Amino acid sequence: MKTVIVVNGGDAPGINAAIAAYTGLAGQNGDRVIGAQGGFAGLLSGQLTEIDQAAVGLLSGRGGSWLRSSRAPALARPDAGEGLSRALTEEKIDNLLLFGGDGTIKFVLPRLQTWGLSCIALPATIDNDVPGTDYTLGHDSACNYAWQTIEGIRATANALPGRIFLVETLGGDSGYLALAIAYACGADAVLLPEYDFGMDWLARRLKITVARRGYALLVLSEGVTAAERLTDEIPKMTGIRVRLTRLGHAQRGAAASHIDRQRAVDMSRIAYDALKRGPRAGIVVSRDGALMVQEGEASDAGKPAPDYQQYAFVNGL
Ligand code: F6P
Repeated sequence: MKTVIVVNGGDAPGINAAIAAYTGLAGQNGDRVIGAQGGFAGLLSGQLTEIDQAAVGLLSGRGGSWLRSSRAPALARPDAGEGLSRALTEEKIDNLLLFGGDGTIKFVLPRLQTWGLSCIALPATIDNDVPGTDYTLGHDSACNYAWQTIEGIRATANALPGRIFLVETLGGDSGYLALAIAYACGADAVLLPEYDFGMDWLARRLKITVARRGYALLVLSEGVTAAERLTDEIPKMTGIRVRLTRLGHAQRGAAASHIDRQRAVDMSRIAYDALKRGPRAGIVVSRDGALMVQEGEASDAGKPAPDYQQYAFVNGL
């Protein structure tokens, strides 16, 4: 069996660990694995590379991806299916191991299925917003990164009272990441794209918290509103100084947590076993903590909004 690994869209911590695990497993069983540099655009233009197992192994705990990714819509071209089939046939490639987030699972995987290509996708994005799975690789690492930063903010917040701290997380247009962080870190308020909020309510809540505890911590997802608007308006409404920390892309490139490394190995084993059984197309999903292959079309039901009970708890609603 010969597999090509393709990373599409945003990278995520844990991808390197998964590449290392899949390649190691295949190697032990006499199977071959190569990688596409630069996602599907790279695969279509023959940018293929042998996977240096030792190098990938050393990067297992690092964020990013040893195989470069791409957001280029290479598969949207009308002749993409033919081109891809030709590229795979020429290189005698039997199947693909694909890493990607929401867009990849929703739009790319169905195309590969239509073209009859054998592929297993591993959902990988810090956003944890892929429908049909309750976990995506990289999410835990991004939460851990935020947690460490927030500990530092709390230290200075406590030492020099009288300030409101805003921490903006990545997450695209979804709030799963921000809510997971806010809930576990004991934030005083959280703002998510999925739920509306009122400025009067927010200003009051932050002001009361500063009066009671000395400082207030607000976590917001990048998809909510321009953070600059809040850093401008909250001081006007509360009379309290506001300091903003943007976790930004350092959060996405964070070190892989133990949980993500473990999931990376579990997911890779499941994907390898599935591809070894013969051609198929599916995604490795987590359902109530159990990993399994969901074959056929990716779920188009969408993902339920972030847990309202947790959102209400953080915000004291
Ligand atoms: O991969 C998901 C994500 O990190 C989102 O959280 C974020 O909004 C987006 O990608 C950033 O994309 P880019 O790296 O293209 O700026």
